[in-house]
Amino acid sequence: MKKIALITGAKGGIGSAISSQLVSDGYRIIATYATTKNSAENYRRALEWLNEKNFNQNQARLMELDVTDTNECAKRLGALLGEEGQIDLIVNNAGITRDSIFKKMSAQSWYQVINTNLNSLFNVIHPLFSSMCEKRDGRIINISSVNALKGQFGQTNYSAAKAGVIGFSKALAEEGARYGVTVNVIAPGYTDTPMVREIKPEILESIKSKIPLKRFARVEEVAKIVSFLASDAASYITGETVSINGGLYMK
Ligand code: CAA
Repeated sequence: MKKIALITGAKGGIGSAISSQLVSDGYRIIATYATTKNSAENYRRALEWLNEKNFNQNQARLMELDVTDTNECAKRLGALLGEEGQIDLIVNNAGITRDSIFKKMSAQSWYQVINTNLNSLFNVIHPLFSSMCEKRDGRIINISSVNALKGQFGQTNYSAAKAGVIGFSKALAEEGARYGVTVNVIAPGYTDTPMVREIKPEILESIKSKIPLKRFARVEEVAKIVSFLASDAASYITGETVSINGGLYMK
């Protein structure tokens, strides 16, 4: 029987590469995508993505999910568990930026980023965690960022949320260990995605010049780490943060 992986923000830059990687690793994936006001158009775009990816119905299932909505997640993920029987792997990848210097940051930008990047971990993992524990097997991989480790000008909200992801993961790793559930973090550096391409070109060039490997990460490079942490080869790794940042920050 195929193992089942839930990937949040599956259509995004890194999420899309993780989706392809896990399907080629033999997983059936539940690919979640964000809720928008125009639900029909949203679904059409998700289907388009699915078709581009060439995933069949056994390999992938789409799911609209607002990861910031605690009640919706509890309801939909509870139902999903009933339908699929089990979730073997959760990849919390959904994330947003609302960059601004702190003096100018709105409360909305603060809360949107904390809700999407950190509170989502409670919302998504909580409805599924007990079943992983009962099965005495499960993998959770949370995507953080180099900017959780080093801080970043203009990202007090994002750095705080992504640092929270690391603390949360270490604590949950402690709790999951007795049930054979591992919890790990990947902290990518600047990766070639639409999110990074939004940064002003001159700022982006200055960031690149500070990266020892002088380039951004490729999405596939990040996806390979997900694949490894989900594999049997990583069965003794838990509570760990794997950096992939071209040397931008060395602990
Ligand atoms: N260190 C110190 N000072 C800096 C600075 C830095 N890194 N960057 C800018 N400043 C200074 C500027 O020189 C300027 O000073 P003056 O007022 O004296 O001229 C002041 O701070 C204001 O800077 P800006 O004019 O740039 O302010 P802005 O409002 O136009 O832009 C910003 C602010 C949007 C945060 C912009 O600086 C920016 O985009 N920075 C990059 C943020 C970033 O790295 N985001 C990562 C997104 S991708 C991601 O998050 C994925 C991941 O995990 C890595």
